[in-house]
Amino acid sequence: MRKKIILDCDPGHDDAIAMLLAYGNPEIELLAVTTVVGNQTLEKVSRNALAIAEIAQMKNVPFAKGADRPIVREIEVAPSIHGESGLDGPKLPESNRTFNEKHAVELIIDLIMSHPEKTITLVPTGGLTNIALAARLEPKIIERVKEVVLMGGGYHTGNWSAVAEFNIKIDPEAAHIVFNAGWKVTMVGLDLTHQALATPDVVERIAKIDTKPAEFVVELLEFFGKMYKQAQGFNYPPVHDPCAVAYVIDPTLIETVSVPVNIELTGTHTLGMTVADFRYPPKPCNTQVATKLDKERFWNLIIDAIKRLN
Ligand code: BDR
Ligand code: CA
Repeated sequence: MRKKIILDCDPGHDDAIAMLLAYGNPEIELLAVTTVVGNQTLEKVSRNALAIAEIAQMKNVPFAKGADRPIVREIEVAPSIHGESGLDGPKLPESNRTFNEKHAVELIIDLIMSHPEKTITLVPTGGLTNIALAARLEPKIIERVKEVVLMGGGYHTGNWSAVAEFNIKIDPEAAHIVFNAGWKVTMVGLDLTHQALATPDVVERIAKIDTKPAEFVVELLEFFGKMYKQAQGFNYPPVHDPCAVAYVIDPTLIETVSVPVNIELTGTHTLGMTVADFRYPPKPCNTQVATKLDKERFWNLIIDAIKRLN
């Protein structure tokens, strides 16, 4: 039985790699790709999603556009990391593919309600707007979803402020809804994803595959690396979003700790912080945070998925 996921994303260089991993890995059944405003406007990230589908020759995967703004806050995009298009670097192919006529939130709800209970994992790799809206519009999905494995947050570090991570910071109210809904949430945050650095040896292994998708990933990583160096002083770029997909494929790749997590909604300097409570004694909770990545096996998984495309 393949693991069914819905990837809710804002492509985005690392979202693109998450899509390729989800589609290329034989253990995942990608039920849908839904898009949300984030790294760039909804129109831009949605166009990017179709271009990625084209490069990977994806078949039988519906694409649906979701929220074009956060629930409460103004739109905040990330050109300093992803460029003006949201996916700068490689030349993107034109695509004749079309979007599902349903809004992403409707599609998410319909898929969860029409599949057996506890069979679908939601994998959000952008702001949590669509997921929060879906939980509010049809609360029955909360019981039916297997779990939510999201890229976002961090318990020791931030990247969009001293303490907040981008996906949470751009729509903290949505994050609050998702973290407190009652379903199981695995937070694959910066503490984990900063271990997934695309070092030169990794890029070289991908380049050797020598296919269109591999070439695309290398071009993505070159641009992403340049931006991460400029904007955040990283020697090699952290490839955040595929870490969440990798956890679904094989949870033994990532160590986790069960701790309550709450979202800061009012702090002057801490808005969007994911406040994780590691104090003793451990408290019962539905949330866990990712702590340690098996890097070698993670990259093997990515490389294997890219090889299977085409
Ligand atoms: C997250 O923010 C986005 O820029 C990336 O795609 C990733 O999902 C990292 O903070
Ligand atoms: Ca993302």
